[in-house]
Amino acid sequence: MKIILDCDPGHDDAIAILLAGSSNKIELLGISVVSGNQTVDKTARNAYNVSSYLGINVPIAIGCDRPLIREKLNCGEIHGESGLDGFDFPKYEYKYYEKDGPSLIIDKCLENEDVIVVTTGPMTNLATALMREPKIKSHIKEIVLMGGSTSEGNLTKYAEFNILADPDAAAICFRSGISMKMIGLNVTRRVLVLPHVVSRMEKLNTRASDLFVKLMKFFNKTQKEVFNLDGGPLHDPVTIVSLISDDVVTFERMNVEINVDPNNERYAETKCQKDIHGHVLAATDIDVNKYWDIIEEALKKYA
Ligand code: RIB
Ligand code: CA
Repeated sequence: MKIILDCDPGHDDAIAILLAGSSNKIELLGISVVSGNQTVDKTARNAYNVSSYLGINVPIAIGCDRPLIREKLNCGEIHGESGLDGFDFPKYEYKYYEKDGPSLIIDKCLENEDVIVVTTGPMTNLATALMREPKIKSHIKEIVLMGGSTSEGNLTKYAEFNILADPDAAAICFRSGISMKMIGLNVTRRVLVLPHVVSRMEKLNTRASDLFVKLMKFFNKTQKEVFNLDGGPLHDPVTIVSLISDDVVTFERMNVEINVDPNNERYAETKCQKDIHGHVLAATDIDVNKYWDIIEEALKKYA
């Protein structure tokens, strides 16, 4: 599978990068980063640090520094000042892709067929790429996003962060006609990095498990403070897991409408209705044990 990962690292995005970089089923064409969990200068540096630390050698492009229309929304209270607090990376020479994030998406799509675009942050880069070069549509097999929810939101009762941070970009992507898999909070809140998960991964004693444990200890602290959760939901890697193993995440065909009215209390809601002719496969269930088995296997690969 040829994948472009568009992300806003972000602790859970970092593990999605780790997973995508370790799977022999994935050819990671590139990483584009976006403003989301933190400002784009920080999310870019974080993506670069994680990829370099793990020896994942792919182009990394700095993408949009703000949403298409609404004001910028970041999430420092969860991911810290750096956007990836909890681990001290070595100092690297930061050499980014020569063009911006949307252009990396365009370039890699036009160079390949059947590209899977995975987004784990606000969808600003992908929406911009689709508007800048509509020809890429025929090169994209599907969009797999972490975002939205078939039930409740997290930033508001109705809105999940990735959609709320740029509802207009999400609407452009959802209305593009490209096949979509939406992995929402209704599923990702089932994979909590509980203490027994941390200790299970700590025992692996690899470079990657050390990174995982240190990052998750910070992530769990802020998730407890903000959402009173006993373990942070490891949202973003569910996208990659759903691609590398087809017996972990269950999907149902639905129609999904994005509320783009900032004056509506349901602003940024992903309104889901079951429909066998729906244009979106929405995640509705996950095998939690199999999920952690796959995460563990990936952490073992980076000795
Ligand atoms: O709402 C969860 C999502 O918002 C995750 O992708 C997390 O990294 C943040 O971007
Ligand atoms: Ca994210």
